[in-house]
Amino acid sequence: CGIVGYIGHREAYPIVIKGLKRLEYRGYDSAGVMLYDNAEAVIKVCKTKGKVLDLEAKAKENFATNGTIGIGHTRWATHGVPNDVNSHPHLSNSGELAIIHNGIIENYAPLKEELIKRGYTFKSDTDTEVLVNLIEEVQKKENIKLGKAVQIALNQVVGAYAIAVFDKKNPNEIVAARLGSPLAIGVGEGEYFIASDASPFIEYTSNAIYLEDGEMANIRLHKPLKVRKIKDDSLVDPYIQELQMNLEQIEKGGYDHFMLKEIYEQPSVIKDTYRGRLNANLGIVQMAGVEDNIEKFLNAKRILIVACGTSWHAGLVAEYIFEEFTRIPVEVEYASEFRYRNPIINKDDVVIAISQSGETADTMAAIKLAKENGAFVFGVCNVVGSSISRESHAGAYTHAGPEIGVASTKAFTTQITVLTMIALRLGKAKGTLSNTDFHTYLQELEIIPEKVKEALETNDRAKEIAAAFKDAPNCLYLGRGYNFPVALEGALKLKEISYIHAEGYPAAEMKHGPIALIDEHMPVIVIAPKQGHYDKIVSNIQEIKSRSGKIIAVVTKGDTQVRELADYVIEIPETSDALSPLITTIPLQLLSYHIAVMRGCNVDQPRNLAKSVTVE
Ligand code: G6P
Repeated sequence: CGIVGYIGHREAYPIVIKGLKRLEYRGYDSAGVMLYDNAEAVIKVCKTKGKVLDLEAKAKENFATNGTIGIGHTRWATHGVPNDVNSHPHLSNSGELAIIHNGIIENYAPLKEELIKRGYTFKSDTDTEVLVNLIEEVQKKENIKLGKAVQIALNQVVGAYAIAVFDKKNPNEIVAARLGSPLAIGVGEGEYFIASDASPFIEYTSNAIYLEDGEMANIRLHKPLKVRKIKDDSLVDPYIQELQMNLEQIEKGGYDHFMLKEIYEQPSVIKDTYRGRLNANLGIVQMAGVEDNIEKFLNAKRILIVACGTSWHAGLVAEYIFEEFTRIPVEVEYASEFRYRNPIINKDDVVIAISQSGETADTMAAIKLAKENGAFVFGVCNVVGSSISRESHAGAYTHAGPEIGVASTKAFTTQITVLTMIALRLGKAKGTLSNTDFHTYLQELEIIPEKVKEALETNDRAKEIAAAFKDAPNCLYLGRGYNFPVALEGALKLKEISYIHAEGYPAAEMKHGPIALIDEHMPVIVIAPKQGHYDKIVSNIQEIKSRSGKIIAVVTKGDTQVRELADYVIEIPETSDALSPLITTIPLQLLSYHIAVMRGCNVDQPRNLAKSVTVE
């Protein structure tokens, strides 16, 4: 979910709406806004199932949008189906308190039961409505101000939250708090902004405070911000950070969709990722976070990689690269599995957490567990200042810039870039990578952006193939070695945005099951570059051919053997086996993109998904 708030001298409604649109990547199954009209001293709420555009349309009907205090929410449902009633903001029974909430209150059921006993009634199925009534109950019982009541209530709550609460009785204040979900406060002149990330207020102020877990803030008009710890009420000195993000970066820049823009940004953002860190001429690859902790890496008996979704796929590619270059054993785990299965974590393990958003709840929990067990945690995040980047002992940013499309593209390739650089640095130091190989890889990596650019020229071809297969109900993706994770990622991309069922498989495993699916209707996308296990994959292609499957092959320029067998080929430039995922993944992104567009899907905001999943 995404939350936005404003308190100041401007009209709040346009600020909140624009902010919600920027945060829509975080969830978009319903949206709502609360405004406070000072003149009439009334709380006004408008909310609806659907997107922020639907909210705007509804507000146009008969909702007075005046007021200089407002809070808004865009939802990704956890408790209760997406409908008007379950949308935020939620009001307390008296109608005096309003809340927006991102996260989950896990113990909402007993709290709700208790409140019902005390006479409270509930309109929605949400955990959030329980929280706002709990705050109200505390406030009434103790006869205290909102801040204190929020604090007492939060100390009874188990779960995760970023909240903003407003009290009509004291309308010059918004109380915000966070635990496990991100919350930034923009500090302007005589005005404050509240949001899940800084994008909603970037054009108004570049001064931001990121609340830490377990902190709350009293945000009062014309008064300095007060930040305190929820647990023990101790005051915290808020650290005001200067933001570096700019507005163009978060707009579409002429492309039809953010996803396409982000696919096309890859040559330049991969460069941004290695800029200042890699120099092939000088034979240097270094990252501050790695250099400062080089002993930890070199003494590691094992590297554990934890991540979710696309980031997990980047982790799988890294497993192959790390083991090849450094001979350190690597395990890659879904963070959600890792955190709940009592994993073996040793003090001499290095845990690498990969996360584009840096906010994924499961990944965050996995690194907390790793830290508790004494492991060294290294974060590979894209969002600067994100929770995971702050919680890690050290890390390296991917520098891909904001990724707005829900389906991850440039984050994936820049994650692989960072991880490859780490593997190169360690392989060199350990002597597990020969000098010649080290230098060859550095040079290869330095020219990878050019090759990615060339791979983007497959766009028309991808479009043509998309037209031929857009109505397929299923799709199979096959790859071997370094390109097996690329097959998984290719299938995930297609599923996510086109809703076509797709599976990724190691090509040789096909004969142990998926081959049964192959008939003349089944498109099979085979990643078959010249390097690696070419001959083996040619045999796999023959197996598909003899069962009349439709073959779409990603091949190295000039390939003739596969061309004879395949129905369609997509040619990509040649690179070394280990770096090939950075290239082979490009046409697969384009293919999914075009199929989704042709099917009329919402490419940037596919149904049921969210960009940043801050619930477990
Ligand atoms: C969500 C997104 C995916 C992403 C995953 C992990 O499911 O839709 O695109 O790969 O979360 O996110 P992270 O920010 O941790 O990389």
